[in-house]
Amino acid sequence: MTAAGHWATERAGPADERNGPADERNGPADEREGPGRRTRTAAPPAASYAEGMVELHPIGAGDGNAVHELLGDPAVATWLRPAGVHGAFTPEECELVAARGAAHWAAHGFGRMLAFDGDRCVGWSLLGHTIVAGRAEVEIGWSVTSDRWGQGLATALGADALGRAQALGLDGVVAFTRRDNGRSRRVMEKLELQREREFEHAGLPHVLYRHATTAVEDSS
Ligand SMILES: CC(C)(COP(=O)(O)OP(=O)(O)OC[C@H]1O[C@@H](n2cnc3c(N)ncnc32)[C@H](O)[C@@H]1OP(=O)(O)O)[C@@H](O)C(=O)NCCC(=O)NCCS
Repeated sequence: MTAAGHWATERAGPADERNGPADERNGPADEREGPGRRTRTAAPPAASYAEGMVELHPIGAGDGNAVHELLGDPAVATWLRPAGVHGAFTPEECELVAARGAAHWAAHGFGRMLAFDGDRCVGWSLLGHTIVAGRAEVEIGWSVTSDRWGQGLATALGADALGRAQALGLDGVVAFTRRDNGRSRRVMEKLELQREREFEHAGLPHVLYRHATTAVEDSS
């Protein structure tokens, strides 16, 4: 699919039942900045971190094949499966991921970006609503095809998601991964997320990290 095709399909697809009520907490930044003199860190322009490495496009309902280039990689899929489920994602599962991703964009105006090297999808940068460890949160995330691991791409994609969150005024975004996913935990550390706690997710031990994007000054 061409780059133009990705943009053209970005706002279609069924409702995403994973989208929780976190929206209510995420109004425009100005409304939430009272007299307490909050200082927001400067928001870098979206996609600046991954520029030159990949081209980023919002996921669209027609991106099932592109998603399959990423999740059809068993080395990637194994870290994203719940307990007891194994193997690469099927094309049908990838169609669903694309449809849900498009629905998230349509509902919230932000979401998952697919990373392309030419016409090939080699990763994604996630920014999305989720419910994790019993709470509605905004999550950042990343995945990269295994032949591109170790080149700093996930860190660039994570920085892109973080930059987009900051530009939208979304404070305190989280990231989480399996406890034994050393690579992804290292990316979280490089992005200066703080380890918050361990919890069980999808039947497996996970670790929750959080980023404090807003410094609150003492106005007294
Ligand atoms: C996790 C993942 C996205 C990392 O992608 P990547 O492009 O290789 O990440 P980066 O190159 O930006 O950074 C990886 C870091 O982990 C380090 N690393 C590699 N193997 C490691 C290990 N076993 N334990 C700890 N750190 C490790 C690398 O040295 C690097 O750190 P450095 O820059 O300080 O040297 C990729 O492995 C992936 O897609 N995995 C499968 C899906 C997944 O786990 N997604 C995340 C779900 S939360």
